[in-house]
Amino acid sequence: MTRRRIAILISGRGSNMVSLIEAACCPDYPAEIALVLSNRPDAGGLERARASGIEALAIDHKAYSTRESFEQALDAALRERDIDFICLAGFMRVLTPWFVERWAGRMVNIHPSLLPLFRGTHTHQRALEEGVLVHGCTVHFVVPELDAGPIVAQAVVPVVPGDTDHMLAARVLAQEHVLYPQALRMICDGRARLEGGRVVFAEGWSAEGSLRSPG
Ligand code: GAR
Repeated sequence: MTRRRIAILISGRGSNMVSLIEAACCPDYPAEIALVLSNRPDAGGLERARASGIEALAIDHKAYSTRESFEQALDAALRERDIDFICLAGFMRVLTPWFVERWAGRMVNIHPSLLPLFRGTHTHQRALEEGVLVHGCTVHFVVPELDAGPIVAQAVVPVVPGDTDHMLAARVLAQEHVLYPQALRMICDGRARLEGGRVVFAEGWSAEGSLRSPG
């Protein structure tokens, strides 16, 4: 089995990064985490990655005068390390169409809502304000439009009376940690692949593979 070489891009604490690193420790996991990259030198996730023996690099976007020059540095670092595939995990910089097209079909993101609902930020607060009864998270391929690419996997989380955005966020995050490694596995072992702008599943659509809910 050839394991895909993954770079995880983060901006903060990196709890999703940890879940991917832990999954990739399993010998039959079809991907290895080869690099962790942050646009913020103070991201807590960098130390957590190094503690797992993974190269962790900060490329500070503030050191670059344009979005394009920052992304060129990012792209060069990824190519120098023969990265095959990118996982965005709490990476809070909007990427330009140039970078997205360069990594088209080879970059996924995890977003804390059931897309296409609640693109952008403050997803849990907005879900509560709208009064939805179910919320969740989505793993999707990245396209130039923000939070809009083909969906690989979703997890559904019930909204319960008395929820605050913090309570809901914690419940969704717990599902993100299960969903992201599962979705990456399905992509890397070929069970989920892009075809005509959608994700198709080798064994047909399976709730087990592409959709989950706690309990
Ligand atoms: C996660 O909830 C992730 O879904 C979200 O940021 C958090 C990062 O947490 N991502 C986005 O909002 C991207 N638009 P983590 O650093 O602990 O993984």
